[in-house]
Amino acid sequence: MVLTVSLNPAVDKYIHLRRLVHGQHQQAEQVVTSAGGKAVNVAGVLRELGEEVELIGFFGGFTGQYLVREIATEGVRCHAIEIATLTRTAFVLVEEDGAETELVEPGGAVTADEIAALRAALRAAATRAQVIVMSGSAPPGCPDDIYVQLLADCAGRCPVIVDTSRAWLQAVVDDTSGAARPTMIKPNRREAEAALGTTLATPAAMAAGLRQFAVRGIPLPVISDGAHGLYALVDGAVWQAGPPQLQRVNSVGSGDAAVAGIAASLARGAAADSDTMLRLAAACGAANVLTQECALVHRADIERLLPQVTVGRM
Ligand SMILES: Nc1ncnc2c1ncn2[C@@H]1O[C@H](COP(=O)(O)OP(=O)(O)OP(=O)(O)O)[C@@H](O)[C@H]1O
Ligand SMILES: [Mg+2]
Repeated sequence: MVLTVSLNPAVDKYIHLRRLVHGQHQQAEQVVTSAGGKAVNVAGVLRELGEEVELIGFFGGFTGQYLVREIATEGVRCHAIEIATLTRTAFVLVEEDGAETELVEPGGAVTADEIAALRAALRAAATRAQVIVMSGSAPPGCPDDIYVQLLADCAGRCPVIVDTSRAWLQAVVDDTSGAARPTMIKPNRREAEAALGTTLATPAAMAAGLRQFAVRGIPLPVISDGAHGLYALVDGAVWQAGPPQLQRVNSVGSGDAAVAGIAASLARGAAADSDTMLRLAAACGAANVLTQECALVHRADIERLLPQVTVGRM
């Protein structure tokens, strides 16, 4: 079973309109509502890959209830930690020319008691997990080092992937408390540059960046770079996986899809086979760019793309 942790899930609302006009009353042409938030996306892709998935997250109000229902429909067992505030909505305004404007709420604040309840649920579920994936931002009320605390709850029982950004990623990367470390982080290039305070413009710089993460106690760091693919440090060797060139429809959520590919490989015990793991990650990320919806991948696309991914040691 792969356990996913969603501190800040969201109702995703894609609002289609001809052209966004600043400061005007406008009617939407079409609205598509779905369950979102990075860990929820990862859980959905894992289901498409045929994995057994559970999800722990904060859910509040009618938006939270909607998400819990949707997540269950996808075949994910959901352990909902009920919060007093309303689960957020993320609005994506999609114009006819393809331009997308995102308006994202920070998320309803959580209390110390609610955090304690989530941590207890994580400690209980972690005993049954083969892999744990923690993805996304954290809502107001969570300390910056929330993922450091959750890593301690996982207690090194199984591989743990942390895919976050900003202060939450910085706290994980800089932690020297001696608490359990993540097996893997998967920042994109921009997030990795911010965490390391350096630019990663060349493959050599990417390799050096990966080694810096390893020095900080993360044994299997991965940095993704959009259409350029992803870089990973496995057993001291730097690998690169390059996707085929594709007609991009929407690449938002490709990182979540790639994380799901890695998590599925780890759950299947394929971690030792770097080629298999990185090929699946890149194929999942690539399959996502073919669909309009965020982190929606089709298994048939993944199967077709797998042999088109190039994987090699640098
Ligand atoms: N345009 C593309 N064509 C082919 N593959 C892509 C493309 N964009 C992304 N990918 C694949 O997906 C992986 C993850 O993408 P990316 O680096 O954009 O993640 P991200 O920025 O974390 O995305 P998000 O956080 O929105 O999920 C890449 O390493 C690559 O393998
Ligand atoms: Mg990402």
